[in-house]
Amino acid sequence: MEYQHTPVMLNEIIKYLDPKPGENFIDCTLGGGGYTMAIAKRILPTGKILAIDLDEAAIKNTQFQISNSQFLNIILAHDNFKNIQKIVEKYFSPAGGFDGIVFDLGLSRAQLKDRTRGFSFGLADAPLGMNFGGQAGESAENIVNSRSADDLAGIFREYGEEKFAYKIAIAIVKQRQIKKIQTAGELVKIIMDAVPRKLQPARIHPATKVFQALRIAVNRELENLRSALPQALALLKPGGRLAVISYHSLEDRIVKQYFKQESRDCLCPPAIPICQCGHLAQLKIINKGILRPTEEEALNNPSSRSAKLRLAVKIHPVK
Ligand SMILES: C[S@@+](CC[C@H](N)C(=O)[O-])C[C@H]1O[C@@H](n2cnc3c(N)ncnc32)[C@H](O)[C@@H]1O
Repeated sequence: MEYQHTPVMLNEIIKYLDPKPGENFIDCTLGGGGYTMAIAKRILPTGKILAIDLDEAAIKNTQFQISNSQFLNIILAHDNFKNIQKIVEKYFSPAGGFDGIVFDLGLSRAQLKDRTRGFSFGLADAPLGMNFGGQAGESAENIVNSRSADDLAGIFREYGEEKFAYKIAIAIVKQRQIKKIQTAGELVKIIMDAVPRKLQPARIHPATKVFQALRIAVNRELENLRSALPQALALLKPGGRLAVISYHSLEDRIVKQYFKQESRDCLCPPAIPICQCGHLAQLKIINKGILRPTEEEALNNPSSRSAKLRLAVKIHPVK
């Protein structure tokens, strides 16, 4: 079985999460297991890592890799990280909390290249699936064939920041009256025909933004992240590290705002002179701003190019 994925910013993840023997971690997005394995090795002999993925193929791949290995300290959970609190209760809950939690959002190379999954606009005959969980959840095919033009345009605009959202939505609705849209290639053709050739973006494929938007909508990616971050913070012990890699600005904005909010005492509007909310900072942002892959990594692994890493450490709230 071959599951392809080159871990992104692995050196930085290991440097800042700094796993040590006996510590406990959560990898919320197992993928090809790059981070999980690197952390698992460093926390032996008593530390454990709980690794979560929605994709059964990712879970099976790591299961296969760790069978007959020293990695008895990897606990696999086939689930959505939005349920992280419940997952911890079910599988592994160390006294005092976790030493580090990592999210590497988005999708793996294995998912992108899988002809049965429909994530790539380059695989023309692929069915329009796009669900991280495989066939179990909603599909992009359902969305493009059932939503109104206004709904579709809203998805393309909100999750893809697509300039021609409405034009493309109208073209989809027209086309599906003739024939149900079923493959990536059919959708790509509709997009290419809808966007005037001379206005098509030069640096990216004209279907990039619509495909990103559909993937985000299918998997409810932004909602999952919004709901997982506060749970992750609650699961960390003071001194525990939180690392999030995102690949588009919508996710990065959520992480940035959450880190900013949780690194401040008092969230009252400036017009209120004495704090009413009692909010206390629980995070200290490490490395103000974002970390990006090195030029060398971006060159060797083009899918790392858009990666943005944000890091924070949990602190004791001070009253
Ligand atoms: C970029 S890959 C992770 C790669 C991994 N860091 C490595 O080194 O191999 C992202 C993974 O997150 C998974 N994923 C995305 N959203 C998820 C969610 N809400 N819950 C659980 N897994 C999710 C995807 O299925 C995919 O396998």
